[in-house]
Amino acid sequence: MQKRILSGIQPSGKLHLGNYFGAIHQHLAFQDQGEAFYFIANYHALTTVQNALQLRELTIDVAIDYLALGLSPEKATLFRQSDIPEVTELAWLLSTVTGMGLLERAHSYKDKVAKGILPKVGLFTYPVLMAADILIYQSNIVPVGADQVQHIEMTQDMAGYFNTTYSKEVFTRPEPQLNETAKVPGIDGQKMSKSYGNTIEIFAEGNALKKVVMGIVTDSTPVEAPKDPDTNVVFQLYTLFATTEEKQEMRDKFLAGGYGYGEAKKTLLKKIDEYFAPFRLRRKELVNDKAYVEEVLRKGAIRAREEASKTLKSARLACGID
Ligand code: ADP
Ligand code: TRP
Repeated sequence: MQKRILSGIQPSGKLHLGNYFGAIHQHLAFQDQGEAFYFIANYHALTTVQNALQLRELTIDVAIDYLALGLSPEKATLFRQSDIPEVTELAWLLSTVTGMGLLERAHSYKDKVAKGILPKVGLFTYPVLMAADILIYQSNIVPVGADQVQHIEMTQDMAGYFNTTYSKEVFTRPEPQLNETAKVPGIDGQKMSKSYGNTIEIFAEGNALKKVVMGIVTDSTPVEAPKDPDTNVVFQLYTLFATTEEKQEMRDKFLAGGYGYGEAKKTLLKKIDEYFAPFRLRRKELVNDKAYVEEVLRKGAIRAREEASKTLKSARLACGID
């Protein structure tokens, strides 16, 4: 049987190069390797986005972005999390077998609270809803970034507790699948993230893109001096796009000296611009065809709901709620 691949993307801001190389690229590659289910995690986004207009817009934007970047509705099922309300019921069932201690150990919760996000109940039980997302589709493989691995391990635990409590194999054990690109640096050298305001957006173009790339923070080594390619963000970002020969060429120039960051930034800018040009074109078409995008999401929801209702039925039966 084909493996079920599933992942969720929060519609909590404009997608950036960190999301692309850390997650989206891998999601798209998986379309050809099994039965892929991708959803826009709008229930989860409510833990940080609490403006209806903004959430609606960000949600449809993620759908448009994925379609523009190459998600094929013939190969993968794309849907909105909230179109499958069964998932919230399963989250409740799972919460009744999940210990407080498990959730209290979540790094992501602690990190978010440390960053100033209010510790609401929904933020605390976020991993239970995420477990329901994964288990309701009997997912085998969950491609995620390193920051999400603990959530998948918690999902494995919750599946085990439920199956053991009710002596029935209701849920398949999912496995996380890590991407090769561990961490994309932002324009300030920290991890690229919406919450640090240091992103290069995938669909930025023209002067806006130029301004961000030319604004990448570099040290003050003079143009003539040799520079270490491995510690500079311009080179690190360039390696994401360049061929082996192109990478070697820029590396040699930095090491030789007489090559300034400004020149390297221009080369990087050209690469980013060219790489995403066809996707930008496709995106513009999709923006003008929202009916098509809605249709993809609607069909995706029908397909996903078929699977979700089967699993929920068997979970309800197992615990005596029929
Ligand atoms: P952000 O940090 O901007 O809020 P998210 O937490 O929504 O991004 O991340 C969505 C996906 O993109 C996750 O799978 C995450 O691991 C991946 N990701 C985000 N930023 C990066 C980065 N800088 N490098 C690699 N992967 C990233
Ligand atoms: N928590 C994930 C993130 O922030 C998004 C997400 C929600 C998810 N549900 C999921 C990812 C289920 C994988 C599987 O990136």
